[in-house]
Amino acid sequence: MTAQIEIPGYSLVNKIAEGGMATVWKACQEKLDRVVAIKILLKQADSDQQEYERFIYEARAAASLIHPNIVQVIDAGEHDDFLYYVMEYVPGPTAGDLVDSNGPLPEAQVLQIGLEVAEALDYAWRDHHVVHCDIKPDNLLLHRNGRTKIADLGLAQVLGSEGVAIDDDMTLGTPNYFPPEQALVEDSLDTRSDMYALGATLYHLGTGTIPFANLPPDEVASQQVHGQIPAPKEINPKLTYGFCAFVERLMAKDQQHRYDSWDDVMSDIMRVRDGQVIRAPLAAKIRSTIQHTRMPTHLEKKGKVIVRKRGAPPMKPLHSQEDGHRARVSVNADALSRNRNPYIKQQAPNIWPAVVLLGGIAALLYGYTFLF
Ligand SMILES: Nc1ncnc2c1ncn2[C@@H]1O[C@H](COP(=O)(O)OP(=O)(O)O)[C@@H](O)[C@H]1O
Ligand SMILES: [Mg+2]
Repeated sequence: MTAQIEIPGYSLVNKIAEGGMATVWKACQEKLDRVVAIKILLKQADSDQQEYERFIYEARAAASLIHPNIVQVIDAGEHDDFLYYVMEYVPGPTAGDLVDSNGPLPEAQVLQIGLEVAEALDYAWRDHHVVHCDIKPDNLLLHRNGRTKIADLGLAQVLGSEGVAIDDDMTLGTPNYFPPEQALVEDSLDTRSDMYALGATLYHLGTGTIPFANLPPDEVASQQVHGQIPAPKEINPKLTYGFCAFVERLMAKDQQHRYDSWDDVMSDIMRVRDGQVIRAPLAAKIRSTIQHTRMPTHLEKKGKVIVRKRGAPPMKPLHSQEDGHRARVSVNADALSRNRNPYIKQQAPNIWPAVVLLGGIAALLYGYTFLF
C-alpha cells in the first residue's frame, strides 16, 4: 500500500494501525524533518459519501482543539483517491494496549489517566461544545513522557452545529463503553455521556475487564441500558472503595445522576487519590451500570481515609478478558426499545401505600374479632 500512497511533503515510514475505515501511518514531515502521524481514508469505488464527510468533520473537530491532552492536528489534505490529516506523533502504547499486555493498571495510574482525560474533555466541552462520543482505552495514547492524549474524534459532535447526518435508527460507537442514551439514540447526548464512557474506561483499566465483554454488539448496547457489572473491587480487591464509588457515579444510568461538571469529576479524582471518599456517592437505590459497593460503616461516617478490606478473596470476573467486540460498530436502536430509557422516568415502586392499607385491614379484623 505504501507504493500507492504519496503525500507531497511527507514520506511514510510504517503503518501503525488499520481500522475499519482508515489507516494510521508513522511518517516524516520532510521540510521540518520531524516525525508525524497521518490518518488516511482511502476512497473506494463503493465508499459512501457520508464516510468522507465524517472524516472531514473529524479532522476539523480535532484541529479546532488545542490542548496538551488532545492529539494535535497540524495539516490536512485531499488527493484523487484519499483524504488525510496529519497529527503530532505520540510514541507509546494506547491505554488499551497496556492493559492487554500488563493486566489491571495500578489505581494511581488509572486515576492519573482519568484526571488528564477529564481536563481535556472539560476544555473540549467548555470552549467548543464538543462531545467526543468514543472515549475508550484504545483511543487514549500514553506518551512516553507520561502524558495521556485523547485521539480519534471520528464520532465527535459539536453540539449546536450541524453534524454529519446518520441513519436515525442507528447509533455509532463502541457499545462496551457507550452510555445508555447513546445506545437508545436519544437527543440528550452531552458531556455527561463522555463521563459515562470515561467511567467504563477506568473500570476496564482498573480491573482488566471490559464491561459486558463477549456479547454481540446489540446485546452489549441493551446491557448498557438495563444491565449491571460487578463492582470493581470484586474483580480487583486492591482497588479502593473511593475508586468504586467514583466509577459507580460516572456510570449512573441516568445522566442527571452523574456529575454536573468536570470540575466536580476532577476534585473527586483528587479526593480518591488522597484516600478519601468522594463528595457525593450514589445512594444504593440509584441505578448505575456498576453494582453498588457498600462502604464499611466506619468509613461512611468518617468520610475519609479509605482502608483496604483485607483477606477478601478476589471474585471471579463475570466476563473473561477476551474481547471480540470492542471495536466501533453501529447498533440498531430499534432493538433496544428506542427512546425508552427506564432510568429516566421509572423510580423504584413505592410500596408504602400498600403496607398502610394492609395494616389498616389487619387492625380492623383484629378489632372486629376481639371487640365484638
Ligand atoms: N497521533 C498518533 N500517534 C501515534 N499513534 C497514533 C496516533 N493516532 C492514532 N494512532 C494509533 O492508531 C490507532 C488508530 O487510530 P484512531 O484515530 O483511533 O483510528 P480508528 O478510527 O481506526 O479507531 C490508535 O489506536 C493508535 O494506536
Ligand atoms: Mg480509534
